Amino acid sequence: MLEIENLCVSYGSVRALDDVNLRMASSGSLHGIIGPNGAGKSTLMDAITGRATPTRGRVRMNGVDLTGRPVAWRRRHGMARSFQRTSIFAGLSVREQLELVASQLGERDLQGIVDALDLGAVYDLPADSIAYGDQRRIDIALSLIGHPKLILLDEPAAGLSTVETVSLFEHLSALARQRGVSAIVVEHDVDAVFRFCEQITVLDLGRVVTTGEPAQVRSDSRVIAAYLGSAA
Ligand SMILES: Nc1ncnc2c1ncn2[C@@H]1O[C@H](COP(=O)(O)OP(=O)(O)OP(=O)(O)O)[C@@H](O)[C@H]1O
Ligand SMILES: [Mg+2]
Repeated sequence: MLEIENLCVSYGSVRALDDVNLRMASSGSLHGIIGPNGAGKSTLMDAITGRATPTRGRVRMNGVDLTGRPVAWRRRHGMARSFQRTSIFAGLSVREQLELVASQLGERDLQGIVDALDLGAVYDLPADSIAYGDQRRIDIALSLIGHPKLILLDEPAAGLSTVETVSLFEHLSALARQRGVSAIVVEHDVDAVFRFCEQITVLDLGRVVTTGEPAQVRSDSRVIAAYLGSAA
């Protein structure tokens, strides 16, 4: 469904992405992106969602060339990115937030999203008053509104405990299956990525080290050298 071809992004003299190729075939699956700090993971998410302009290369989704299309166009065509906490309007309840976005994007099954993410208990609380772990699930709920085919999440578990991280990924896996939405997830919690993602891409210095299934990636000597080290 997603094809990335020869993608390059530069910031001045820094080659943040250097000829990245990636294919994501199936829908309803999780694709993890891992790699050291500065590897280009966020830049890849930015280039896929249209927030960074490639100097070279193409991004296609279901055969449609997205290169050069604005962020809003991509959103309408089924690609969403998780919102950050700062996008939450002060003073609104979780319900009001989600209903506002749902009305804009014509979402008919908001309740399904709320149930799948276990947001019932915080639904009527002010959005800016709830616990951080719940907040992260609201970010994901916002990205799911409007039935996107693909969501991109940059470190969704940052700041969460191990237990909260596992719970977040369990929710994500279930959602991917139930709603047929695929997710590309950048995450530093390698254990969670190996446990929950069907495919994993390792980036280092703006280049793809490898893409494959967890067992394959975990035992790849180049991945161990570049990133996993003794953790493998
Ligand atoms: N807006 C920018 N301007 C200049 N350089 C940038 C910019 N964004 C990223 N870079 C550089 O591009 C490279 C890749 O950065 P990127 O943020 O994509 O890495 P990352 O893999 O997401 O790292 P982290 O794990 O720390 O989040 C780094 O060398 C970074 O300093
Ligand atoms: Mg990053």
